[in-house]
Amino acid sequence: MEGDATAGRSGGRNGRIETISVLFVCLGNICRSPSAEAVFRHLLASEGQSLAVDVDSAGTGDYHVGDPPDIRSQRSAERRGIDLSGLRARQVCADDFDRFDLILAMDRSNLRALQTLRPGSSRAEVRLFLEYAEVVEDLDVPDPYFGGQDGFERVLDLITLASRGLLAALRRRHAARLIGGCDVNL
Ligand code: 4NP
Repeated sequence: MEGDATAGRSGGRNGRIETISVLFVCLGNICRSPSAEAVFRHLLASEGQSLAVDVDSAGTGDYHVGDPPDIRSQRSAERRGIDLSGLRARQVCADDFDRFDLILAMDRSNLRALQTLRPGSSRAEVRLFLEYAEVVEDLDVPDPYFGGQDGFERVLDLITLASRGLLAALRRRHAARLIGGCDVNL
């Protein structure tokens, strides 16, 4: 496995809860990745209390730094009881590759940008978020920015699916480490 996301930055074995840090990344950090950040946080709050997970999001581009999530993302999230209004866009930086265990790209273009930015010394695992979704036709979360509200609904559906898979993977990893310190692939 590239990097060692299973280790966690504040990791420990023998039953101690260790924190794993996850960064969701898209292009602008106003549509897909802030939605993923908020949906995954929401899921952790309702079903993942036994896990210690730090969650954040960022964009590979700087076009929208400081902006709140796109109003269409906010509307789709709101319909599902999730408030995005407090989030603000930021750009990925070199420190993120040291700070986060797992960096999850929304599409292959974001993944390529991350691989270019990634310092050689980084131990972060960088992969596509939809690898965690149980059944998907494609591993890209489609960029909804130039489309209509239905595209934003689709983004929320895909993100919710992958968030469930990610939570299950983190649970498996947590359980494996509690019973003997063997690593399980995330
Ligand atoms: P995101 O969507 O990467 O999911 O935040 C986009 C936001 C803005 C732009 C493109 C995609 N833009 O070209 O400004």
